Amino acid sequence: MPTLKFAVLSGDYIGPEVMTEALRVLEHVAKKENLTLSYQHADVGGAGIDNHGKALPDSTLATCQQADAILFGSVGGPKWEKLPPKEQPERAALLPLRKAFNLFANIRPGLLYKDLADASPLKSERIPNGIDIVCIRELTGGIYFGAKSTITLENGEQQATDTMVYKTSEIERIAEAAAQTARTRSKKICSVDKANVLETSVLWRKTVTAYFAKNHPDLALSHMYVDNAAMQLARDPNQFDVLFTENMFGDILSDEMAVICGSLGMMSSASLGTIQNSHGKPFGLFEPAGGTAPDIAGKGIANPCAQILSAALMFRYSFGLDAIAAKIEAAVRKTVTVDLVRTGDIAFGKPAVGTKAMADAIIKNL
Ligand code: NAD
Ligand code: IPM
Ligand code: MN
Repeated sequence: MPTLKFAVLSGDYIGPEVMTEALRVLEHVAKKENLTLSYQHADVGGAGIDNHGKALPDSTLATCQQADAILFGSVGGPKWEKLPPKEQPERAALLPLRKAFNLFANIRPGLLYKDLADASPLKSERIPNGIDIVCIRELTGGIYFGAKSTITLENGEQQATDTMVYKTSEIERIAEAAAQTARTRSKKICSVDKANVLETSVLWRKTVTAYFAKNHPDLALSHMYVDNAAMQLARDPNQFDVLFTENMFGDILSDEMAVICGSLGMMSSASLGTIQNSHGKPFGLFEPAGGTAPDIAGKGIANPCAQILSAALMFRYSFGLDAIAAKIEAAVRKTVTVDLVRTGDIAFGKPAVGTKAMADAIIKNL
């Protein structure tokens, strides 16, 4: 009976609400599939600040280091927004965690089930078969991690700087991750940059072009400026198959992808790097693409699907249990498209259920 060892970092606001339901789904799957789950909860983000005085407590990092994967909720929110920026949950926990485990490749599936088209803001004529694309976002470089400062100028006003930095090797490794994803799909791949303005993008485009010519000449590589890509996603998302881009562009485009695919509450993500776990698979961090949704927290109405689908990605990537991941994904799909069980974010006129009822319906389909 394989043992699946992972750290559970639920975080803040809706984080624990959707995590509770994802764990119920996993417990059910484990029982059915004869798997042993060995998971340990640890505080992160605001919960880390409140209970240990810092967003990423040493004990939490140690729990992650001993695990084969991290199942992450989300962190941050109004309660900690008055802290110095560097101490806030997002900057003091999530970004360091991504960096500590070298999780440079963030995979965000943009999947709109055909029968969930009513939840997309796009006209159904534009997406007769739903949407099926994927964003590969560089996650440990760029403007998130370059030098930052805020200084006071001689005239007394303040000036803040963020620096976008990329090295060839960082671009090549995300290009390789994107190429590997494209190989499992239609072999069409679009690199998104701003090479008409940014030096990092000029290097990005040059490096990507040379890398694909040398290593993946059979893949259909194209390039697009990020402003156009944002527009094209809203106009005709299925013209893309695999999109890949730098950190901040990927952050923004993936939220856009999430909403055209129904809701942020449906978008899962996998962050992978260079570390192999005890299963001989990539160590990964698996989290919803969305945040802590303080506006709906505490009401029991958050959509748990993104968290459940992120757990499915953990089974696929970090445990090599593709068939089980596919079963979880199929159960989610059937729940929202055939049974029409919907949380408020994807209900649009249909009766809405709460977080727990959604998970119950998914469990019934497993
Ligand atoms: P958000 O993603 O939390 O919410 C944006 C909108 O989407 C809200 O209206 C929210 O209700 C809705 N939404 C998000 N997830 C949902 C779900 N599962 N079900 C139903 N509706 C959902 O973005 P925000 O409001 O800009 O950020 C809130 C906090 O979350 C901030 O502190 C932000 O930094 C943090 N954040 C954390 C992560 C993370 O930890 N990975 C990601 C994004 C934002
Ligand atoms: C995401 C989030 C994070 C990011 C924040 C909370 C640091 O928006 O995972 O998309 O910008 O990467
Ligand atoms: Mn984001």
